[in-house]
Amino acid sequence: MGSRRVRDIPKAIRKCEPPRWHIAARVGLLGVAAMAILLLPALGRLSDVHTFAQNSPGTFGSGDSAPAHSRATDAYAPNAQQPTFYPTFYKDVQPILEQHCQVCHRRGEIAPMPLETYEQAQHWSAGIARMVQSKRMPPWFADPRYGHFANDPSLTAQQIQTLVAWNDAQAPAGNPKDAPPALTWSAGWNIPAPAAVIQMQKAVALPARGDVEYTYEIVPTKFSQDQWVEMSEVRPSSREHVHHAVVYIRPPGSSWLRNAPIGTPFTAAEMTNEQDRRDANWTTSDILLVYAPGSSPDRWGAGMAKFVPAGSDLVFQMHYVTNGHQATDRTSIGLVFAKQPPSQRVLTLQLTNDRFLIPPGATDVRVEAHGTLPNDATLLNFFPHMHLRGKEFEYNIVHRDASGAATIEPLLRVNYDFHWQLSYRLAEPRFLKAGTELQAVAWYDNSRNNPHNPDPDSAVRWGNQTYDEMMVGFFDVAVPAEVDKTQYFMRHP
Ligand code: HEC
Repeated sequence: MGSRRVRDIPKAIRKCEPPRWHIAARVGLLGVAAMAILLLPALGRLSDVHTFAQNSPGTFGSGDSAPAHSRATDAYAPNAQQPTFYPTFYKDVQPILEQHCQVCHRRGEIAPMPLETYEQAQHWSAGIARMVQSKRMPPWFADPRYGHFANDPSLTAQQIQTLVAWNDAQAPAGNPKDAPPALTWSAGWNIPAPAAVIQMQKAVALPARGDVEYTYEIVPTKFSQDQWVEMSEVRPSSREHVHHAVVYIRPPGSSWLRNAPIGTPFTAAEMTNEQDRRDANWTTSDILLVYAPGSSPDRWGAGMAKFVPAGSDLVFQMHYVTNGHQATDRTSIGLVFAKQPPSQRVLTLQLTNDRFLIPPGATDVRVEAHGTLPNDATLLNFFPHMHLRGKEFEYNIVHRDASGAATIEPLLRVNYDFHWQLSYRLAEPRFLKAGTELQAVAWYDNSRNNPHNPDPDSAVRWGNQTYDEMMVGFFDVAVPAEVDKTQYFMRHP
């Protein structure tokens, strides 16, 4: 992990490449002005589950505790007449763990160990100090110089200092009466108890080893009325086998995957119908949620929701990985419905470039995609996606003056880490007029210096396998509630 060099943008201005409407041909369905952001490719194969070596707690702490302790004494007892101050678990540490760590570090969640009780935290105090000091925890990859994000879990310098000093002081408990009010989590979810849970009807059998082709399962919602989804969360039943999932909304009457079976897993290769085989990879259907380990559930602001028409199906697109053990998975999605119809509908769009070539050994390959918004929209959220050569990812607005010269306004800079596919939710949603030009830029490192690189000697193109690459800049926008995705892409002169 570690934070990589952040790309500087001299005076925030960089020359744009000329527009390339390279996937315009594929937008024929809607026949509207070319939009690189419309089509939804299947997400890429993300290879092996990120395995981590859980350090034995005994391996750190002991060695550095002696000098550390005297440091703490200096810092917290500046003069011997005064009582010694040091942070305690209940008063100082627990509130930080609750707010910044337990979303992952609690029983049943993705982190290797819970940090809920004093004993647990005390056991890990040296590891906690080390991980927060090096900013490897909590995971977050946005360059802090650009944009503010509502789901940024980063600690303040003072919070880091508190955790380090607590460890230095031998991780004292303090007084349980100082503990913050206990947090309540809804059992099994990071969103409030869902009103509906839609689960894959038939479990997918996963082999012990080898590649698993993208697996689809279509599950009818059986919604008798239209629903507005305010929050949603994907929960795999076998988390370690799910590298990512995309849940699509297939409204009634959609011709997408028309001949595919319902309620049973299938892969594109099993489709006898050529159109269905192609459909498995490309669709214009809206996405309900993209999931990857560590990504946060969707929670839209007040008055915003995703629309799921009555009688829709959900299409689960699953990328499974193998880890030496056979398993089965039945992924679920939990939905919280809006109490009243929202004024705005959330759509997931994307900036995609599937025509690039990354030469062997190249360290800094730039791939760009851009498009102009056909109508007004409020920008909410980003979710960049690349594979193992991914290095950095940017989202920008391109401002052009009368001569066509471009000024780049950075919205987000991500020091991409393949193992953490995070979403970045704007703290302040940004209203954008029709015609606004959005740009996504991906940077790839296909050299030996990239520790994730499976093969620095091969040229890399777009593809589903992790040893292929992807360039997808998902983003969410809010539009008037009555506008669906097709209508959003109609341009009004
Ligand atoms: C988004 C989920 C998430 C959040 C939030 C998070 N962690 Fe983690 N943490 C993980 C995962 C997953 C691992 C194991 C994989 C890894 O090390 O990358 C981990 C690993 C760790 C480890 C190292 C364990 C080892 O084996 O050495 C420590 C210590 C840790 N986290 C502390 C924290 C602290 C302290 C916070 C809050 C300030 C925090 N984490 C927030 C998911 C999270």
